[in-house]
Amino acid sequence: MKGKILVTGGTGYIGSHTVVELQNAGYEVIIIDNLSNSNKNVVDGIEKITGIRPIFKELDCTDKEEMRNLFSQYPGINGIIHFAASKAVGESVQKPLLYYRNNLDSLLNLLELMPEFNIESFVFSSSCTVYGQPDTLPVTENAPIKPALSPYGNTKQIAEEIIQDTVHSGASLKSIILRYFNPIGAHPSAEIGELPLGVPQNLVPFVTQTAAGLRKELSVFGDDYNTPDGSCIRDYINVVDLAKAHVIAVTRMLENKMKKPVEIFNLGTGKGLSVLEIIQTFEKVTGVKLPYKIVGRREGDIEKVWADPEFANKELGWTAKESVEDTLLSAWKWQLHVMENN
Ligand code: UD1
Repeated sequence: MKGKILVTGGTGYIGSHTVVELQNAGYEVIIIDNLSNSNKNVVDGIEKITGIRPIFKELDCTDKEEMRNLFSQYPGINGIIHFAASKAVGESVQKPLLYYRNNLDSLLNLLELMPEFNIESFVFSSSCTVYGQPDTLPVTENAPIKPALSPYGNTKQIAEEIIQDTVHSGASLKSIILRYFNPIGAHPSAEIGELPLGVPQNLVPFVTQTAAGLRKELSVFGDDYNTPDGSCIRDYINVVDLAKAHVIAVTRMLENKMKKPVEIFNLGTGKGLSVLEIIQTFEKVTGVKLPYKIVGRREGDIEKVWADPEFANKELGWTAKESVEDTLLSAWKWQLHVMENN
């Protein structure tokens, strides 16, 4: 066994794929999740893929006493990967206090409890949202942080600052902050994937549900942007590739290979694709026609962003490998799997 890792939000979309990769790499995993946006059955999917059932506790990271009990119950945790957070941009505008309470209390609790239990290594889920609309593309980790466009985005910015300040204070904490671009797709086994509750807010789950006939048509939010086809451009990264970066990050920490106590990495492919290109590619690889219409812009959307992933490529020895074709196909296989099993 390489070490014991606590994964908060481990039944969620990126969390569950990361648990699979951690277990495949020989780590013992303890998942906690309050199931606010995921399902307990995800643990079955993880077990089917890896042959190992991770420990799962239904727990809310904002409950400090319960968290303390957890650390007492499972001594010897070597590191934490902290995914648990609310992440719907639009909802955060409607319910800012919920977002600040949930996303920041959970972080504060973990950072306060870690020294009590001699845990030093902390991987944090951040987002390219901290860059806003960058002045230059591709965006590097040194690009300026722009004023957040939503309370959700602000929680990520503030969380990064809280981590930096804690390390700066001399606390025995080291942290790798991972700024994700747009994670999409599912595990190739189709045993786990993205399972949004209610109407999907993100592009690819909306695409797959529309293709499956569960939604009438996809709305493309704007075709009058300053991009080649007028629709927004993002850097879509395969979720399994993304998950693997977490294993590398955790290992780097536990093996004391970090160059400074807080390291920040962009996790993206380096390639931007427009919404219309995603639709075309989806239709090409699945052979399914996707009904869509162009509607007005969505408030808060930025025009275009894609990563410069060179720092992660060089320092972590990590590169996004999966093609967008295979990734969209995996999302489609997952959609079919969900429908067959419900
Ligand atoms: C947003 C956040 C990101 C966050 C993620 C999690 C920003 C800038 N980005 O990503 O930080 O981690 O949500 O939820 O705040 N689109 C459509 N029709 C749809 C849905 C989406 O055209 O029905 C378009 C959007 O306009 C956008 C692209 O598809 O251009 C991707 O949208 P989405 O999947 O929601 O991700 P982001 O908004 O990029």
